[in-house]
Amino acid sequence: MDIRPCTDEDLSVLCLHWRTPGGVHEAHHARQQAGQATYLVAWQDQEPLGSGVVQWGGCIGSNARTAYPQAVEINHLQVRDQYRGQGVGSDLIAAAEALAWQAGRFQIAVGVADDNQGAERLYRRLGYRLTGVVDVSEYDWITAEGAVQHETERDLLLVKDLAPTIGIL
Ligand SMILES: CC(C)(COP(=O)(O)OP(=O)(O)OC[C@H]1O[C@@H](n2cnc3c(N)ncnc32)[C@H](O)[C@@H]1OP(=O)(O)O)[C@@H](O)C(=O)NCCC(=O)NCCS
Repeated sequence: MDIRPCTDEDLSVLCLHWRTPGGVHEAHHARQQAGQATYLVAWQDQEPLGSGVVQWGGCIGSNARTAYPQAVEINHLQVRDQYRGQGVGSDLIAAAEALAWQAGRFQIAVGVADDNQGAERLYRRLGYRLTGVVDVSEYDWITAEGAVQHETERDLLLVKDLAPTIGIL
């Protein structure tokens, strides 16, 4: 498996092999081009397995931002159905942490929907701790059939401090 920031060339292959309605890959790549984010994609040869976004500007949720102003946020973590449970998500998180470390950013935040116990368990296993901070977000997404779906989500904020666990030579 190879995990790397999405290049222009990768973007074409990504859009061809992992179709997502609503231009998701393009939007994440555009934020990367603008210097606001890094769009990490995990590959097995030409096959994209999953992806996640490192948000250099910090937490999106206002409560999270206020409580942890120094943190970078990892969001939009997603592994394609058929590749789940094989360590891809864990490796994407590790790659995002390594990037943050290299950039001199030592606190990582993630928001997990309060009904997403699987993802919460994964983050806790990787050293993230629940903070008690909650943000409510509303967003629209486009289903495979092209319908707009409106969602309200309660995101629990988890945080990990990198310094004590990695980077010790
Ligand atoms: C959460 C997610 C990114 C994990 O990716 P992954 O490659 O399956 O993760 P790993 O193989 O490294 O680790 C597996 C862990 O992921 C969690 N997990 C959550 N949903 C899962 C699923 N459908 N299949 C397998 N594992 C899942 C579990 O905690 C599992 O650990 P367990 O063995 O203790 O149950 C992936 O399941 C996914 O894309 N889910 C849908 C989108 C999502 O919820 N993203 C997170 C937003 S905060």
